[in-house]
Amino acid sequence: MEKKAKEFDSIARNIFKPIYPIIAGQIIARTGITSGTCLDIGCGSGYLGAALAKATQLYMHFLDQSPDMIEIVKQTIQENNIQGRSATITGDVSSIALPDNSINLAVSRGSVFFWEDLPQAFREIYRILAPGGWSYIGGGFGNRELKESIKGKMMSNENSNGQFGDLMRRNMSPETRERFETALKTAGINSYSILHNEDIGLWIVMRK
Ligand SMILES: C[S@@+](CC[C@H](N)C(=O)[O-])C[C@H]1O[C@@H](n2cnc3c(N)ncnc32)[C@H](O)[C@@H]1O
Repeated sequence: MEKKAKEFDSIARNIFKPIYPIIAGQIIARTGITSGTCLDIGCGSGYLGAALAKATQLYMHFLDQSPDMIEIVKQTIQENNIQGRSATITGDVSSIALPDNSINLAVSRGSVFFWEDLPQAFREIYRILAPGGWSYIGGGFGNRELKESIKGKMMSNENSNGQFGDLMRRNMSPETRERFETALKTAGINSYSILHNEDIGLWIVMRK
């Protein structure tokens, strides 16, 4: 397994861990979706999708472009005992191997900042959403306290080279929000709102 995937998993497992159930709760509170199908895009180790699965009856699809991350997701599925209602997809968000109108809830945390063709990604997400379906895409750390504590730990983490603070500021900036809104407009998507504050982070909430 690639070193990068293992390193990411170690950070997610040891430092980010408490954020996933909190973000899952925020997603459920905002969308009200607790059954049907869910897609976790750029799922990494799959901890957000697993937290959602544990809190709901959702059938989870875990998607990531990295085959090494998908190998880790398979362990996460086992550890959480959700084998009966989980599937994995290795692939890019710009071409999602799922039928039109098939997903009730599409979520993505910490991945959208890396997507090369944002309008195409948003079109794909809109395509796979079922009528009445929701998506919740962006980045955040659950709440302000967790964000500050994670920032402190990451700044002293030997793999982050002290750049975590800059990255966090850039990802959560008004410029990034503007880039998202321009891409949504280009994709022809009007039915969305943006959540953006110090506590929650920056999220695009779409409804089909
Ligand atoms: C910072 S990690 C976040 C992982 C996870 N969502 C979490 O919050 O712990 C970003 C993930 O997005 C994936 N990714 C980046 N660009 C992608 C793309 N275009 N399509 C699918 N996955 C992508 C990466 O492989 C990586 O696993």
